[in-house]
Amino acid sequence: MTTREPAPFTAIVLAAGQGTRMKSDTPKVLHELCGRPMVDYVIDAALAAGADDVIVVVGYGREALTAHLAATYQDRVKTAVQEAQRGTGDAVRVALPKLAEHAREVLVLCGDTPLLDPNELVLLAASLGETGVVSLLTAEAADPTGYGRVLRDRTGHILAVREHRDANDEERRVREVNTGVYAVAAAFLRDAIGRLSPNNAQGELYLTDIIADAAFSGQTVGSLLAKSASALVGVNDRAQLAAAEDILYGRIADRFRREGITIRTSARIDASVVIEQDATIEHHVVLRGNTRIGKGARIDVGSVLTNVDVAENAVIKPYSIATDSTIGASAQIGPFSHLRPQSRIEEEAHIGNFVETKKTRVRRGAKANHLAYLGDGDIGEGANIGAGTIFCNYDGFKKHHTEIGREAFIGSDSQIIAPVRIGVGAYVATGTTVTKNVPDDALAISRVKQENKEGYASRLKARLKAAK
Ligand code: UD1
Ligand code: MG
Repeated sequence: MTTREPAPFTAIVLAAGQGTRMKSDTPKVLHELCGRPMVDYVIDAALAAGADDVIVVVGYGREALTAHLAATYQDRVKTAVQEAQRGTGDAVRVALPKLAEHAREVLVLCGDTPLLDPNELVLLAASLGETGVVSLLTAEAADPTGYGRVLRDRTGHILAVREHRDANDEERRVREVNTGVYAVAAAFLRDAIGRLSPNNAQGELYLTDIIADAAFSGQTVGSLLAKSASALVGVNDRAQLAAAEDILYGRIADRFRREGITIRTSARIDASVVIEQDATIEHHVVLRGNTRIGKGARIDVGSVLTNVDVAENAVIKPYSIATDSTIGASAQIGPFSHLRPQSRIEEEAHIGNFVETKKTRVRRGAKANHLAYLGDGDIGEGANIGAGTIFCNYDGFKKHHTEIGREAFIGSDSQIIAPVRIGVGAYVATGTTVTKNVPDDALAISRVKQENKEGYASRLKARLKAAK
């Protein structure tokens, strides 16, 4: 017995349109959902379904789109250029020269359907069977307005797909719509595309006409009814973009919930984020980019983390913002902390309310609990930074470094004028302006001596009142 080679299958992704209804200078498929451009979801679904070759048809805004695809997928994705957008049929036509000689099956997808399920693509390809030439993924739409209708004969055989604009009243009552996803035999696709003509309301070449072409010549047209209708219709405007994104956020959160993570319903977590078991993500938290949340960590209400690594059991209290930073195990941040890029908060350190850090290392167990600016610094283990401390790191031209020794104590309302080093165990008295290095174990104090003038307060007030 001989086993047949699995047929190579290519995906063609149509993404040349501007997406007029988005009213945007950005090509439609580069609009993001959950932190990733729409087209990535389509390409990922095709790859997950087993495509060994992906050709993306680009046109409007193709410089940006091509650059994005090259950066994200390197040589796993090819592009074909459609100079003028003459319709979905024309878009497939420009992709055909890139189709490998040996390709036998083609999956045609639209770049504006980010909710595709790879399993459904596999089933669609299988529905082509041995003899089918084309099979389309359809959906039962509550409101089919704008979509192509699937027209069947009395016995249920598909006759054609009729675009909304070209359909008569009776056809418009049909609720089964074309999702724009097709599995097609490569040989049939090459022939049928050559036979398309622009006899329609938009004067375009409609890819959908290959359905009537196949049916008319007595070929088998297959179909697969999608499980979830809302999940498959294309994104054409920003309301649909928002609706699709909500569905995606829901899927991401459910995936984490199944892995043992508590995610409140209003949290928004990008697909790229990693979260370990028993972490808690509270309401209105936003986690973006290359963020990792360690085991047992708790991210409280309203915090926004972008590219942040949070180690196990750390606690981020409400309304904290962190970007491009790391937070150590059991550290405590917030409420209302702001960690700007390259903040490195180590184990058990505390950063409190209205504390801003930037390019600063806060070593194990150090604390800055209230109102401070800590920029370009290195704070030693166990040091205590008082309320109102400012690292004066910028002289208007250059940034300068502040080093605070282990177990040092910085009294409230101190200005530390960088570059400067405060020694191990040193003590900076409240209200000091530090302008030169403080040796280990030294006390630094710079204050104007206090003077008390007895009985002077009422005299002063009387004078000021008279002058008013
Ligand atoms: C298309 C289908 C319709 C289906 C709907 C599902 C046709 C004629 N109609 O309509 O039956 O119900 O999708 O969402 O195919 N594109 C190009 N070049 C072009 C035109 C379009 O690359 O010249 C791309 C677009 O960028 C988009 C995709 O093809 O990603 C679909 O185009 P769109 O204009 O959104 O088609 P619909 O009118 O939605
Ligand atoms: Mg569309």
